[in-house]
Amino acid sequence: MDKIVVEGGVPLRGSVDVSGAKNAALPVIAAALLAEGDHVVRNVPDLADVRTLGKLLGHMGCAVERSAAARAMSLRVPAAVRPEAPYELVKTMRASVLVLGPLVARWGKARVSLPGGCAIGARPIDQHLKGLTALGAEIRLEHGYVEATAPRGRLRGAVFTFDGQTVTGTENVMMAAALADGRSVLRNCAREPEVADLAAALVRMGARIEGAGTDELRIEGVSTLRPLDHTVIPDRIEAGTFLVAGALPGGDVTVAGCVPAHLEALLEKLRAVGAEIAEVRGGLRVVGDGRPRPVDVKTAPHPGFPTDMQAQLMVLLCLAEGSSKITETVFENRFMHVQELQRLGGDIAVDGKIAIVKGVPVLSGAPVMASDLRASAALVLAALAARGTTEIQRVYHLDRGYERIEQKLAPLGARIRREKT
Ligand code: EPU
Repeated sequence: MDKIVVEGGVPLRGSVDVSGAKNAALPVIAAALLAEGDHVVRNVPDLADVRTLGKLLGHMGCAVERSAAARAMSLRVPAAVRPEAPYELVKTMRASVLVLGPLVARWGKARVSLPGGCAIGARPIDQHLKGLTALGAEIRLEHGYVEATAPRGRLRGAVFTFDGQTVTGTENVMMAAALADGRSVLRNCAREPEVADLAAALVRMGARIEGAGTDELRIEGVSTLRPLDHTVIPDRIEAGTFLVAGALPGGDVTVAGCVPAHLEALLEKLRAVGAEIAEVRGGLRVVGDGRPRPVDVKTAPHPGFPTDMQAQLMVLLCLAEGSSKITETVFENRFMHVQELQRLGGDIAVDGKIAIVKGVPVLSGAPVMASDLRASAALVLAALAARGTTEIQRVYHLDRGYERIEQKLAPLGARIRREKT
């Protein structure tokens, strides 16, 4: 197992490139199941989660190849696959559930392990199942698996309203509706850029989808789709993590290749803490001057402040001149980084969904443990800001969502390295 060692207290300066978005690549790779033939997904980050999904498609009978140089994944999807996602693969990555919609839409049956709980909360998939049921799927839960069948092999279009906004739920039902008989209207859909990117990929495959990026998707089902060739959008959460690094006192970081429009809620908060932000060619430059000002933040579905940036912003607020209130409304248990930030000297009190962060002038390095993906990113940021040495254990969480983070941060002046434990 690896650990990350950081000698902190050095402000970051320079330019860093953003990789393709994990959460856009995963649904687009799953969408390949909707059409027979040779698919190419470009700008795919080399991450553990992407490899797991590749393995899952391989298990089903697809030929999956990754070209590191081209940052692409090629998939050959045969006429028939084994429509099954086993527990061993799903348990390591909840997003495996994204194969459910494509499988049942294309082959009329699917057997996908229930993902179970995860560190950030219960994370049910009831809305995925309700949406697929509305499209005519018959769903049984047996032996820990979702068994879904489409009567006579085809789903049928329907009007469906999600009870609450769900990113992968919207993606699953949208993919299924793209191959259903007739018209679907999906309401209260997630509006995240990753959902819109999947819709764009599906449209290029021949799907008829209107309303991408809004909360209502209107989908005219088609009988077959063609293979996809799609370039996934830049990772707004990776970009956001680097922007926070630049906003730390003394920082001056240009995040190249990001899409400012995807980052508005974060940029608003970064400006509020006093960071200077400028759009530069092909990216954003952020300059963090002195200590940040405190701000209140409430996470919400897009275009609200992303829950996936909550932990990272908390690091900045740990150093603010005053008290900030962070309210987490998307997940029930997403303050696990708090305990570890306290070990670094953060003054944070949590009461249910609310964290009160009292800024301190300095953080100090200590051994810490990563608990989930975004919590790990927050620990890296805190370690960069802290005086002294921080060792972060359980780096595999970080590797699920950040490509070579130490190699991207080192050229900015970070004293960061990976070591075997
Ligand atoms: N929810 C339900 N029922 C459902 C689905 C969701 O009650 O059927 C609830 C969840 O429990 C949660 C809320 O709805 O409270 C929102 O969850 P959502 O379904 O939107 O999350 P997700 O699709 O499972 C994706 C990202 C997450 C990101 C969330 C929120 C992918 C692969 N994952 O998860 O990314 O936090 O949306 O934006 O797209 C990460 O990358 O670190 C990560 C956790």
